[in-house]
Amino acid sequence: MSMKIEKIPYARGELSVPGDKSISHRSVMFGALGKGTSEITGFLKGADCLSTISCFQKLGIEITEEKGTIYVHGKGMHGLSQPSGVLYTGNSGTTTRLLCGLLAGQGFPAELDGDASIRKRPMGRVTNPLRSMGAEFSGDFCPLTIHPGKLHAICYDLPVASAQVKTALLLAGLYADGRCVLTEPEKSRDHSERMLQAMGADLTVDGKTVTVSGEKELFAQKFEVPGDISSAAFYLVLGAILPNSEITIRNVGMNPTRSGVVEVLKAMGADISVEQERLSSGEPVADLTVRSSVLHGTKIGGALIPRLIDELPVLAVAAAAAEGITEICDAQELKVKETNRIRAVVDEFVKCGIDITETEDGMIIRGGKTPSGAEFKTYGDHRMAMSLAVLAQIADGESTLDDGACVEISYPQFFEDLYRLGR
Ligand code: S3P
Repeated sequence: MSMKIEKIPYARGELSVPGDKSISHRSVMFGALGKGTSEITGFLKGADCLSTISCFQKLGIEITEEKGTIYVHGKGMHGLSQPSGVLYTGNSGTTTRLLCGLLAGQGFPAELDGDASIRKRPMGRVTNPLRSMGAEFSGDFCPLTIHPGKLHAICYDLPVASAQVKTALLLAGLYADGRCVLTEPEKSRDHSERMLQAMGADLTVDGKTVTVSGEKELFAQKFEVPGDISSAAFYLVLGAILPNSEITIRNVGMNPTRSGVVEVLKAMGADISVEQERLSSGEPVADLTVRSSVLHGTKIGGALIPRLIDELPVLAVAAAAAEGITEICDAQELKVKETNRIRAVVDEFVKCGIDITETEDGMIIRGGKTPSGAEFKTYGDHRMAMSLAVLAQIADGESTLDDGACVEISYPQFFEDLYRLGR
């Protein structure tokens, strides 16, 4: 249903964003494989992570909640049981791809399916290397059936920097004979490596290469999930581009494989301070404060891309507000996210008069002109919805969103938090 985007006069105040989506998924999945009960605080109760919980319940794992803490009653490496029906992964690429890897090493077949977006997302990037380890798959798109096999270790150079592919192969590697050696073209988020090491996996990291051995036991952990920097990014951009603003976001995950957005915004001239840096469950966290700033264009590409891949739509909003030219390149992965995010950003920005050109692997934005309000489309993509809501704040006139509800995927209370900053 179409909704009006309220315009706030400024954004001032403090907030905590919901838990990190990547770490929330992994805490349930890895917790299920551990011996004992894993305790998770700060878990993101967004639709994607709830899909992961429901899949693991169907795989026989008891998951309970008490006073906001999630308890995953792990059954060890060989404790999952055959689900009676299809495992439905909703809109979640992380759930789907990580399950492909994990289920490849089990003693039973299983079927995965998701929503219309998931059915279009390429799974060949996980099914192909998993086939070479010994598993079989009915196809390379959902719905697909996984037929596990006796897995053997592989040495594999990932064609794309992808934490989903890397983690799927690490999970299969936990069931393989020998040592799997996985090398990425650029380093992607390393939450899996940190969490599996803490749980007792025989896993080492050397630059862009991760090595894991099979047949080791994992043990339950306490996971404190930090605030999601990908959600904080909407406020970092909002606070920088909206006059008279100052926002403090507490307890944000600042893992160096994820914090590219802060570096780029600072390079564009954003006034961001990073305070109270500390470690929480092996992940760096900090409090971030952003103040209204004058931004200028920049170039975003290369090894930075995996470190801010999910923040590119909202960085494009920052670029539209910035003086001068911003060029985003090496970002062809955006085409296979929840929607084609290059096409979606370009089409929506054009609607409100922003000077933007689509390229093969990104976009070029000539910023600094006030956009006009528009009837925006989200393409059912949560990050498009939130990026456009930020863009609408600096537009002349009214804007609407065709589907604001999709923010429930990663940030159910996004609009409440946004409007509160303007009161
Ligand atoms: C994720 C990895 C990234 C990211 C996604 C979450 C993860 O995807 O875009 O939102 O949790 O591993 P890719 O692995 O496809 O780059």
